[in-house]
Amino acid sequence: MSSFLIAPSILSADFARLGDDVAKVLSAGADVIHFDVMDNHYVPNLTFGPMVCQSLRDYGITAPIDVHLMVKPVDSLIPAFAKAGADIITFHPEASEHVDRTLQLIKDNGCKAGLVLNPATPLHCLDYVMDKLDVILLMSVNPGFGGQSFIPTTLDKLKAVKAKIEASGRDIRLQVDGGVKASNIAEIAQAGADMFVAGSAIFSQTDYKQAIDEMRAELAK
Ligand code: DX5
Ligand code: ZN
Repeated sequence: MSSFLIAPSILSADFARLGDDVAKVLSAGADVIHFDVMDNHYVPNLTFGPMVCQSLRDYGITAPIDVHLMVKPVDSLIPAFAKAGADIITFHPEASEHVDRTLQLIKDNGCKAGLVLNPATPLHCLDYVMDKLDVILLMSVNPGFGGQSFIPTTLDKLKAVKAKIEASGRDIRLQVDGGVKASNIAEIAQAGADMFVAGSAIFSQTDYKQAIDEMRAELAK
C-alpha cells in the first residue's frame, strides 16, 4: 500500500450490483473500501449493516473494509461487524456513552479502532485516548449524505490533528471524509491527511480508474 490511501465510499455505489461495483473500484486502484453505516437516528439516513459486509466477503472481496459507524448506540454492532469481516471500525464520540470502552471493544474484536469528529466537534475528545487510536477521521461535511461540499475550515482542523498525532509519536492514520475530489485532494493532503474517503467523486464517473488516477496524480505533485 502507498502512504496515501484512497478509500471509495460505497454510499455512492450501485447497490443493485454492489459486489461487482466494489470489485470494479478495487481493480481501478482503490486501497480500502469505506462502508458508511447509517441508522436514521444518529444521522438522518439509513444504509446497510453487517450482513452486507459479510456478503461482500462471501462475494470474494478481500481488500480492507473500513466501517464508519454513524449509529447510536454503537457497542452492540461492533462484534457483528468484526465477525462480518471489518478491518477498521470508526465511530462518533457523541454516539457512545463510554468512548474508551468502545475503542477497547473494537480492539478486543481484532479490528483497528478510530474516532470520527464532526465539523463542529472539538479536538479535546482525543486527549486521553490517543494510545488506543489507529485512525482519526475528520468529517469535512456533516454526516448523513454523499455529494456535499467540502467545508474549508477542515483544513485548519487537519493541521491541528496532524500536530497532535506527531506529538504523540504514534502511527495514527489521519482520514478525511466528505467532498473530497481531485481538485481539492492535494490541499487536503498538505494539511496532513493521508487517507481519503471519496464517494461521489469516484462512483459518479464512468471510468473509476481515471478518477482514482487523477487523485493520485494530484497527490504526487
Ligand atoms: C457521509 C459519509 C461519507 C460520504 C462521502 O456521511 O460518511 O463517507 O459517503 O461522500 P462524498 O465523497 O460524495 O462527499
Ligand atoms: Zn464515511
